[in-house]
Amino acid sequence: MRIGILTGGGDCPGENAVIRAVVKKAEKYGYSVFGIKRGWLGLITGEVEPLTHFSVSGILPRGGTIIGTSRTNPLKKEEDIQKVMTHIKKFELHSLITIGGEDTLGVAKKFYDRGVNIVGIPKTIDNDLSGTDYTFGFDTAVSIATEAIDRLHTTAESHDRVMVIEVMGRHAGWIATVAGIAGGADCILIPEKPFDIDNVCEIIHKRHKRGRRFSIIVVAEGAVPVKGTRLIAQDESVDAFGHIRLGGVGNIIGKEIEKRTGFETRVTILGHIQRGGTPTAFDRVLATRYGVAAVELIKKGEFGKMVALKGNKIVGVTLEEAIAKLKTVDLELYDIAEIFFG
Ligand code: F6P
Repeated sequence: MRIGILTGGGDCPGENAVIRAVVKKAEKYGYSVFGIKRGWLGLITGEVEPLTHFSVSGILPRGGTIIGTSRTNPLKKEEDIQKVMTHIKKFELHSLITIGGEDTLGVAKKFYDRGVNIVGIPKTIDNDLSGTDYTFGFDTAVSIATEAIDRLHTTAESHDRVMVIEVMGRHAGWIATVAGIAGGADCILIPEKPFDIDNVCEIIHKRHKRGRRFSIIVVAEGAVPVKGTRLIAQDESVDAFGHIRLGGVGNIIGKEIEKRTGFETRVTILGHIQRGGTPTAFDRVLATRYGVAAVELIKKGEFGKMVALKGNKIVGVTLEEAIAKLKTVDLELYDIAEIFFG
């Protein structure tokens, strides 16, 4: 029996650990695994290659994905949908494992509805997929962001500066909130809670009055002000799923803080550093468990599902549940972060 595997959307630390786990677990059942190149694009173009024990050897700690990824949306053209169906047949793929976030798994659900045997695996550094406590890659992104905050702390303190650090998080501020708590941020701005720049400046002023002459402000790229609510995009372009490229809100906030408070301010945009490089031990283990569980679901014939972490158990949830709505930040967690503002 042949299983096809693809990685879609932005790459994510831990993808190779999943691929390795799938290949090794599948081998135990005598299944063979085929890597589909560059996400859904590989099923449109027919670029598929066998993955063996040998090809996945040594990839556990490696960042990125050995089979490549893209933001291709095969549902945009009827002829692409037909090509995907034809290639699944041509390569005799009994089932597909699709590793991705809301877009990739949204497409997976549509192909499942057309009769394709699909199992999903939740991947995104943003941690904004429903149905699971954690997506793999999030822990690594949080560790990188926390280390960056720690490093900014010492230089902020030495120079009596305000440091604004912008992290990823398009619609959900999970990275900002968790890394902000871990790094002792003085203020955290997330998409779920539109911010008032006056309040941010007040927090900084309060610290100065207390003799704390530096501040760390963590901002999610999707954060918006209460007044004049508008996302800050890098340019006008959108991807195949209609998403604009965010980035730059940190610069605007930094300028505004300096103008209003007169305190010297610097801005760091962490960007794709959060997505590159080796996964943490937590993500390696989670990714491995997800890979193994996905093969188990295939063995049991349970399709249209996504493997998920609930508490400490890996379970299967429907793709429908996973993509129904974005999982935004738990505001109880944000309340905890807020205790330490100022
Ligand atoms: O979806 C994950 C993510 O890293 C978002 O946090 C970010 O907005 C986006 O991808 C960046 O996409 P790209 O790699 O296409 O610039």
